[in-house]
Amino acid sequence: MRQLMLGQRLAQELDVELMGSGGFALEQLMELAGLSVACAIAAVWPVATRLLVVCGPGNNGGDGLVAARHLLHFGYHPTVLYPKAPKDSGTGIFYKNLLTQLEKIDVPVLDTTPETLSKDNYDVVVDAVFGFSFSPSGGIRAPFDVVMDRMKTTELPIASIDIPSGWDVEKGDEAGDGLRPAMLVSLTAPKLCAAHFTGEHHFLGGRFLPPNMREKYNLTDLPPFEGTAQCVRLESDVCRI
Ligand SMILES: *[C@@H]1O[C@H](CO)[C@@H](O)[C@H](O)[C@H]1NC(C)=O
Repeated sequence: MRQLMLGQRLAQELDVELMGSGGFALEQLMELAGLSVACAIAAVWPVATRLLVVCGPGNNGGDGLVAARHLLHFGYHPTVLYPKAPKDSGTGIFYKNLLTQLEKIDVPVLDTTPETLSKDNYDVVVDAVFGFSFSPSGGIRAPFDVVMDRMKTTELPIASIDIPSGWDVEKGDEAGDGLRPAMLVSLTAPKLCAAHFTGEHHFLGGRFLPPNMREKYNLTDLPPFEGTAQCVRLESDVCRI
């Protein structure tokens, strides 16, 4: 059975396998994921220079921190909003390194949400708040409630990493009042919620899946990456069900 999208359980299994028998460290996957997000954003907005990268407390936020660093190197002016940096121990050390890397290249890191998200201060908002481990049933707690509200009402285009934040990984925006991103960068494979994505730009990133895992997870119908590209555009009907 070939498929183009993964459910939450399979997405988790695939991640566990990559970092178990696949031999990858989380840092490596995050670096490649973040790089692919930066490449996809540059493909869609070659001249948008001011980016607000909103980073959540988990791995999706880490992808955002990495993307912000690459985007600076690509010539953009990223600002990171990181309302809740993980504690300075355990995996927190790893996130602290990502923050140090941003500091060294003078990327501003905010911990409170700007009053307005408009064309006056930014061109694009990158949504790296919640990923495929998120479940909307618990609701969105402080400090992310404020920035989620501002992202819902902003006039700026939003680029979501892997999952539009606040959406159910499989059912999408069930309540109907969630984010409406203009862009989605699915990592490794689209998750089921991608069937409900109606924005203009859908990309696949995360070019690290070994061919044998592509086959095992029945993902061989996903379009191949061309040449040295880190991302590939997905046609809008690819994930319709
Ligand atoms: C892939 O498809 C085969 C055949 O339908 C199925 O048995 C298998 O469980 C699928 N693999 C995964 C990881 O879903």
